Amino acid sequence: MPENIPYCRHEIGEEEIRAVTAVLRGGWIARGPRVRTLEEACEARLGSSHAIACSSGTGALEIAMRGLGLGPGDDVIVPDVTWVASAMAVLQVGARPVFADVDPETHLLTVETAEAAWTPRTRAVLTVDFAGVPSDVFGLRELAESRGARLIEDAAHAFGAYHCDGTPVGRDEAAHVTTFSFHPAKTITTAEGGLVTTADDVLAERMRRIRSGGITRSFAGSRGSHDYLATEIGGNFHLSELQAALGLVQIDRVDAFLTRRRDAWDRLLDALESLSGELLFPNHLGGSSHNLFIVELAEDGGSADRRDAVLAHLGSEGIGASLHYPLLHRQPVFARSPRAQVPNAERFEARALTLPLFPSITDDEIRRVAHALSEALVRFPAELRTSPSQREIV
Ligand SMILES: Cc1ncc(COP(=O)(O)O)c(C=O)c1O
Repeated sequence: MPENIPYCRHEIGEEEIRAVTAVLRGGWIARGPRVRTLEEACEARLGSSHAIACSSGTGALEIAMRGLGLGPGDDVIVPDVTWVASAMAVLQVGARPVFADVDPETHLLTVETAEAAWTPRTRAVLTVDFAGVPSDVFGLRELAESRGARLIEDAAHAFGAYHCDGTPVGRDEAAHVTTFSFHPAKTITTAEGGLVTTADDVLAERMRRIRSGGITRSFAGSRGSHDYLATEIGGNFHLSELQAALGLVQIDRVDAFLTRRRDAWDRLLDALESLSGELLFPNHLGGSSHNLFIVELAEDGGSADRRDAVLAHLGSEGIGASLHYPLLHRQPVFARSPRAQVPNAERFEARALTLPLFPSITDDEIRRVAHALSEALVRFPAELRTSPSQREIV
């Protein structure tokens, strides 16, 4: 039996191992100078005045929400198609997510879908660079600012991606705050880890405080360097020195990773060409970080049953196909959140599946993915339907 093909596979080389080992052999393994060096490397790479490294993309979102002062009584518009963290961070600060539809082709929040979800309490819009495709941050920022709201860009999938004007995601002029994830499925990894960027000096200082217990030491306390003042609700969102050492090697490799992701993308697309009548292929323009390769079934037979059967078949063949994502408005934790009409998100949810994509995917692995998918499409034709009783059970 051939080995399973995961949906993502990170790359750690000897250089990463040496860098982390050097930290382990040194005296200091938690928060320390390497974290700042990584932040500086990110500031230079992204064109951002302030980069704040933190423990995860989820932590980055919570830091952003708290930093912007969002809380009870505030609404934050969130696309229905995203990982739960995008909206969980809203709940964490006591605000309310409001779910919006996405564009039928890009699956991104748009100015129109954000407008349709607007409420009198909306104080922020969170857009997600889904699958690595940068959102229309310029249009969304204009909309947000014209209504006194702020724009947060959840770029968990998009480290290294470029906006339509050729500038990096995360740069100063884009969203008010941008967040990234360094989870192993993303462009670069620190095992777990994240980053927040902003152009705003005051906001950056506040977010640094929130990362570290909500305290400030820069005040005239009477007890010297041990003194502090807790001024914010904060947490421990630190990235460790071990992770920063890993990140510093990974950031040097980011361009190579992006090139190889793009190449893997092209090879997978070529391998699936004969299925073009059956599948809708992702259309990522030049600036994408090509984080997720998501295909849609051209014909779904009116429910998610066919897609689920295809997913199950791929799984039985050892192919780590996946689902990004079950819609947020269906999750019990968000039951009190209002939503706009979301027909595009619902259609996408019933038809989409994520195929394995990572820089080191081999031609043989790609052939296996294409073969298993084509087999599944024949075995489960578009007419497939479960009986009503089966559907009730689901
Ligand atoms: C869109 C999106 N936002 C936020 C996150 C959270 O990142 P992390 O896993 O680093 O907490 C993820 C993780 O996959 C994500 O996909």
